[in-house]
Order: sequence, then C-alpha cells, then structure tokens
Amino acid sequence: MHRLVFRLPKMDERRAPIVIVVLGPPGAGKGTQSSMLAGLLRVPHISIGALLRSHARGDSEVGLRLRAMMASGQLVPDTLVLDVLATRINEPDCARGLILDGFPRTLGQAELLERGLLKSPFYANNLRHNFVALHLRVQKSTIVGRLSGRRICSRCNATYHLESQPPRVRGECDFDGSALTVREDDRKTTVLKRLRLYEQETAPILSHYTEKASLLEVDGEHPKENIAQEIVTAMRSMLRISTAGDKDVQSTLEDHL
Ligand code: AP5
Repeated sequence: MHRLVFRLPKMDERRAPIVIVVLGPPGAGKGTQSSMLAGLLRVPHISIGALLRSHARGDSEVGLRLRAMMASGQLVPDTLVLDVLATRINEPDCARGLILDGFPRTLGQAELLERGLLKSPFYANNLRHNFVALHLRVQKSTIVGRLSGRRICSRCNATYHLESQPPRVRGECDFDGSALTVREDDRKTTVLKRLRLYEQETAPILSHYTEKASLLEVDGEHPKENIAQEIVTAMRSMLRISTAGDKDVQSTLEDHL
C-alpha cells in the first residue's frame, strides 16, 4: 500500500513549529478533519472542547459548573480555557507543531494566540511562517442534521454519525467497545444557541485572519474524504511541505477517517 508521508524539516532547519487553527461553526467537521490532518502531519490534534469535557466529568464544584456551561452552549471563561490549553501545549509532543480545534473562539483569544501562544517554550515569538487558519464553511441546515446524528465514545471521544459514519456495531465504539453517547450540547435548541454565539463571537476572527495570516477557505459540505483531500493539497503548497512515497493520498486518508 502506498502511503503519503509529510516530511517535516529537521529541527535546526525549522523556523517555527506548524500551527494550524481549525475554524468553523459547530458541526462543520473541525474534529473530523483535525484528526485526519494530525495523522498526516504527525502533530497532535488538540480539541479544546474535548479537553474541557474531560475536566467537566468530575463531581468537583468546578467540574459541575463547567458541565452546566457547556451543556447550555455557553463559552467557558478564558481563564479556564487558557489554563487547560497551556498545560496541554507544554507537553513534549507539541514541539513539532499542533492542530488547534476550537481555539481561538473570540478575537480576544486570537490576540492571545499571537502574543506567543500562551508562552509555551516551543512557540515563543513563532507565529509567523508556519501558521495556517483553516475555515470549514457549512450551511445551518447541514449543521443541524450532522449534530442530531452525531454519537461520541464515552471513553475515547471518537466521533461517529448514525448515517455518514456509523460504528461497526450499533451503539459501540470501534476502538474500545465503549458505549456511544449523545453530547449534551447537541440538542436542537442548544445547537441553535451555539450557532448564534459562533456568528457573534467567532465569525469576526475570519476577517482578522484574512488580513493577518494565511486563511484557507474550504467548502465543508462535501464528503469528508474530498474535503480532506482538498486540505492536504492546499497545505502542501501553503506550508511548503514535501511529501515522500507515492501519491496515493486516498489510502492514507482511509486510515484516518
Ligand atoms: P467543541 O467541542 O469544540 O464544539 P464545536 O466547536 O461546537 O464543534 P463540534 O465538536 O460540535 O463540531 P465539529 O466542527 O468538530 O464537527 P465534527 O467533526 O464532530 O466545543 C464545545 C464547547 O466547549 C463549546 O460550546 C464551549 O462551551 C466550550 N469551548 C470550546 N472551546 C472554547 C473556547 N476556545 N473558549 C470558550 N469555550 C470553549 O462533526 C460533526 C458530525 O458530522 C459528526 O457526527 C461527523 O461524523 C459528521 N461529519 C463531519 N464531517 C462530515 C462531512 N463532510 N459529511 C457528513 N458528515 C460529516
């Protein structure tokens, strides 16, 4: 089987680790595409939502408050988000780069990102050349359908869809057999609230990135394999990453989707 492998420059040749921020409304496919890209680029996929959900599982006062905020579709206060994120990006696997899914979500967070990515030793002064913002554009009607059919693994957070990506065994995760659950914030009224919040708080970041960074616009309505292919092609030239091996992108994508 041919595999597509991104060959990253050696440490001393690199100007900066790759930083990709994935933007788009709830259900746009940020998690799905981030996971695929993380496999190809061999950098971690950091989902802020998933990190926060794991913090919200405990019965502590903070955990309960966090869970209530997320279940109702509100944004979590910056102090907590930054704390969770800073801890994660200081881990050694982030030295080569990372994919941020769910951050930034406000202009304030975008500015914090530019001021040294939360002061991680790996990213100080480095958000210039190897930074890409990826925007997945999706219509409201698509979003509601995607989120009503989404199921996630209660243990490993793997994501499924009842129609477009069903598990092999109904109700069970393909990876660890755990029960699949519905996310608390995927109820229709909460989804509509999250969408409004996205328009107010997050959409303004797009024009910010059009002016300040490389913004890659992708139509998120297509089948996920096609979207992945389009992103990979664009990333190759934007980040000037050479590829090793043959050109069978499809076989690699199948491993990650
Ligand atoms: P988070 O978990 O980040 O939620 P979100 O941004 O609303 O995004 P989703 O996870 O709902 O969707 P997605 O775009 O990842 O789509 P997915 O790939 O799963 O955040 C949750 C909460 O955490 C927030 O509401 C907030 O409270 C808090 N939070 C997070 N970050 C924060 C921050 N920075 N500041 C403050 N608070 C923060 O796909 C969805 C479904 O569609 C799946 O079932 C999938 O299989 C399917 N699918 C995907 N692509 C396709 C396709 N092309 N065709 C058909 N089906 C598809």
